[in-house]
Amino acid sequence: MKRVVLPLIVIVLVVAATVDAQKFEGLAETPPMGWNSWNHFGCDVSEQLIRDTADAMVSSGMRDAGYLYVNIDDCWHGERDEDGFIQPDPERFPSGMKALADYVHAKGLKLGIYSDAGWKTCAGRPGSRGYEYQDALAYARWGVDYLKYDWCNTDGLNAEGAYQTMGRALAAAGRPIVFSLCEWGTNRPWEWAKGIGHLWRTTGDIAVCFDCEKDHGSWSSWGVLRILDMQEGLRVHAGPGHWNDPDMMEVGNGMSENEDRAHFSMWAMLAAPLLAGNDLRTMSEETRRILTNAEVIAVDQDPLGIQGFKYADDGDLEIWFKPLADEDWAMCILNRGSAAREVEFRWQDEEVEDDFSGRKTIFGYRVYRVRDLWTGNDLGTTRQTLTAEVPGNEVLMVRLVRQLGPGD
Ligand code: GLA
Repeated sequence: MKRVVLPLIVIVLVVAATVDAQKFEGLAETPPMGWNSWNHFGCDVSEQLIRDTADAMVSSGMRDAGYLYVNIDDCWHGERDEDGFIQPDPERFPSGMKALADYVHAKGLKLGIYSDAGWKTCAGRPGSRGYEYQDALAYARWGVDYLKYDWCNTDGLNAEGAYQTMGRALAAAGRPIVFSLCEWGTNRPWEWAKGIGHLWRTTGDIAVCFDCEKDHGSWSSWGVLRILDMQEGLRVHAGPGHWNDPDMMEVGNGMSENEDRAHFSMWAMLAAPLLAGNDLRTMSEETRRILTNAEVIAVDQDPLGIQGFKYADDGDLEIWFKPLADEDWAMCILNRGSAAREVEFRWQDEEVEDDFSGRKTIFGYRVYRVRDLWTGNDLGTTRQTLTAEVPGNEVLMVRLVRQLGPGD
């Protein structure tokens, strides 16, 4: 008897595990890169804007720099049809989503879309509550590659349960779709979302300012430094396929060039998703250069996927480190103040140890070449002392390139 029962139990368990699978593995192995409509365009989205943005993504060199996802945020929705299937707004998206996905795919890019776990989206369009499986099926049929799933109008819903339902709906629909949870960190998604989605927002919305809080009445949006400070303690939850998301970027949306550079550098140190939020059709050459800096992008996209950490803090001046592959490190000196600061960093007096990754710099024994990632200048090695002036609201970002020594 036992000989028959045992294999049956095994089969039942295997089937149960397969049915329960709810996250596409192998997606977002490095933080997703792309563009999203919300920060610059708000509700003013259309198929023309998405096509033009896809074109600009290619002509600006952003696609070749690694930006792949063209993500439509809120307000693309029309009504549900008589069977409950969601339709795009017929005036703004007259050719339909399938045609738009085909256009974007033909450029070597991927298409992202937006919905909400509640009855309505944040801008009052139809939400997915009660329609999760139908919506997931619609996205899969259209050829969508990425879903940002918001948290407005969810009165009383359980966050983990609601995101799990959409995760399962996406799995059932069968198309590999990156699942981006936009729950603002309220229910600590880093503690439960790793098996459900590929990234989760850690905070409320970003605002176009370096260091401010914008009060919207019942909620606030936050400047770059405020959002950076809110990442404290979260790095242990991130890694390949499951990222902390400190929100889409505001580079090119009105901050100074220094601030944009500091913002971009710190997002790379955080291994954050790099989702541009500016108008790619009209961006300046300075903005384009910031967004396409290959060596800063390489820090963000490093295959180890280890989020950086603050090593030293002297008020306005912070020093951050991020372990990279091949025993390299990124270091970023952030000047939060508006006045320039002289910096002197004696590598030989410092020891950087990261308990989370088990990595150590061992400057007394190992030698690293120091490369400035914004100027491309060689700043000597860690045998010397680094001296530099960091302008206000700016960074000095370097890569420490491990040199092989005797015994390696
Ligand atoms: C919320 C999200 C934003 C954006 C808007 C759209 O505020 O956090 O990122 O998607 O909704 O309405």
